[in-house]
Amino acid sequence: MAGPCFGWDMSDGAGKPPVVIVKEQTNVTSGTDVQEKLISASDVFANLLKPTFGPKGLDKMMYKTDGNTAVTNDGAKIVSELLVKHPAAKMLVSMCQSQEEACGDGVTTTMLLCGALLQESQTLLRKGLHPLTIIGGYRKSMISAISMLDDIATPLSDERLIGVAETAMIGKGAEASLELLSRIVVKTLKITSENTDYPAAEHVSMFKSGKGSLSDSKVISGVALRRRIPLDGLPNDIRDAKIAIVGGDLKIRSMTRDAQIKIASPEELDSFVDAERERKEHIANAILGTGASVVLCGGEVDKDVLHTLADRGVVAISELDEVDLRNAAEATSSTIIDSIMDASADNLGSFGSFVWERNESTEMVEDIIRIDDCPSPALVTIEVGGDGKEATEEAIRGIHDSLRATSLAMSEKAVLPGGGASHSMIAHHVRSEMESEPGRERIAMEAFARAMETIPAVLAENSGQNPLDKVLKLRSEARIGNCMGIDRDGEITLPEGVWHPKSVISGSLETATETAISMLRIDQVVSARGD
Ligand SMILES: Nc1ncnc2c1ncn2[C@@H]1O[C@H](COP(=O)(O)OP(=O)(O)OP(=O)(O)O)[C@@H](O)[C@H]1O
Ligand SMILES: [Mg+2]
Repeated sequence: MAGPCFGWDMSDGAGKPPVVIVKEQTNVTSGTDVQEKLISASDVFANLLKPTFGPKGLDKMMYKTDGNTAVTNDGAKIVSELLVKHPAAKMLVSMCQSQEEACGDGVTTTMLLCGALLQESQTLLRKGLHPLTIIGGYRKSMISAISMLDDIATPLSDERLIGVAETAMIGKGAEASLELLSRIVVKTLKITSENTDYPAAEHVSMFKSGKGSLSDSKVISGVALRRRIPLDGLPNDIRDAKIAIVGGDLKIRSMTRDAQIKIASPEELDSFVDAERERKEHIANAILGTGASVVLCGGEVDKDVLHTLADRGVVAISELDEVDLRNAAEATSSTIIDSIMDASADNLGSFGSFVWERNESTEMVEDIIRIDDCPSPALVTIEVGGDGKEATEEAIRGIHDSLRATSLAMSEKAVLPGGGASHSMIAHHVRSEMESEPGRERIAMEAFARAMETIPAVLAENSGQNPLDKVLKLRSEARIGNCMGIDRDGEITLPEGVWHPKSVISGSLETATETAISMLRIDQVVSARGD
């Protein structure tokens, strides 16, 4: 019952005035109206994301208050850019965020599942089923579904790993070069996992080349930096050499206070200049002594030091930011040195090639420096081709999501079929479990199974097919033990090449069910805003 509330009536009987404990405009919604309210919010949200779902999903153009636009198909991006005010919708936003944080993919799936579970529960509530009965049935179904996923999981193979990388990238701008980029994703994770404890997207850095197209993207077994090469005559294309990475400056420490030096005679001036030169030589010699051919530096590099090094064929690059230094250190297996005076050969890393490229035709004052072919890199870089604007940003989001999902599949060593096949199998499994359920929870279990079928239904619908026909066909296939799904054209097939890490599907199932449950548990909405 919705309506303005003048506080809860705490009076014992008639005649006594009600005790007013909340503001006049506060509105309290109770009973089934609560769920109606929450469910309609989730419906709006699910319908918003629905057209973006699957390989034939469309994009949304997001137009922000600051005038920036983004065109995206990424559920997480859409959700995070919406200025959500509705409290129920806020719960859904945090649900989407938790799926994105955990897996990097499956956000739209989670939203669709939660929306469908709530939609189903609305019918049951109207029939008079108690929310706790629905909750019980949903939770039972979820637990049994998650344990069943192990039965349909398939061991990982190289081909399936490429399938995982492609599936997670689908519809995210990176699709234009899907095959190339998925191979790149798998390659980068394989290289880094050999030199680190586990495969992870954090071991892969992304570099926008700012030219060409996505199909020019490539792997750099090292790092790419955008910095001006300080002297034109510096060597380009250095092969198989050592690198030093220095956190601080390569110059004489400057005075922290103003000081005046009084020089009385030309001799004194000479000796002062000599002393300064000597100290600079000391710095240069410290570097030369280590045997490094390239020095990356977080601070400034003194001009004289730079020239002395250049004369000996050593390149020094100054004022790199901390992330670049850290990435370069990981890629080349070197230690970041605080002060060059402490440097030794042990701190150095190695690389296979150091090449810089100047692009005269553009106005960019920075060169692209590539440190490549590092012997055992703990970090590698994907150089992403394209103009570096919105389309590249969207592609990078896709590559990143794909890196996350692919690394999960590598760690879990098993994958689940996509295209709605896993969800169709879950629906079948819950229906057969339901047979042995004597109580009313059985009705909720059936509703749960129907909600799972939203995934193949929306895939079919977005590909222009009749969702009901396809779902019924899938149901009969599942009954005879065929794990079938929906393909790109909305037809029923064995889902070849469409794979998900186990945790993307089980995580989204759990998150969606728990969110739906927490909404069903709400028995009153008290709104201070009066809505
Ligand atoms: N080639 C394909 N054929 C059939 N289904 C596919 C294909 N590629 C992906 N899918 C299915 O599309 C669905 C994924 O769609 P989408 O990537 O739009 O949503 P999401 O992964 O849930 O959310 P998001 O990617 O926005 O986080 C999955 O069910 C997946 O199995
Ligand atoms: Mg996806």
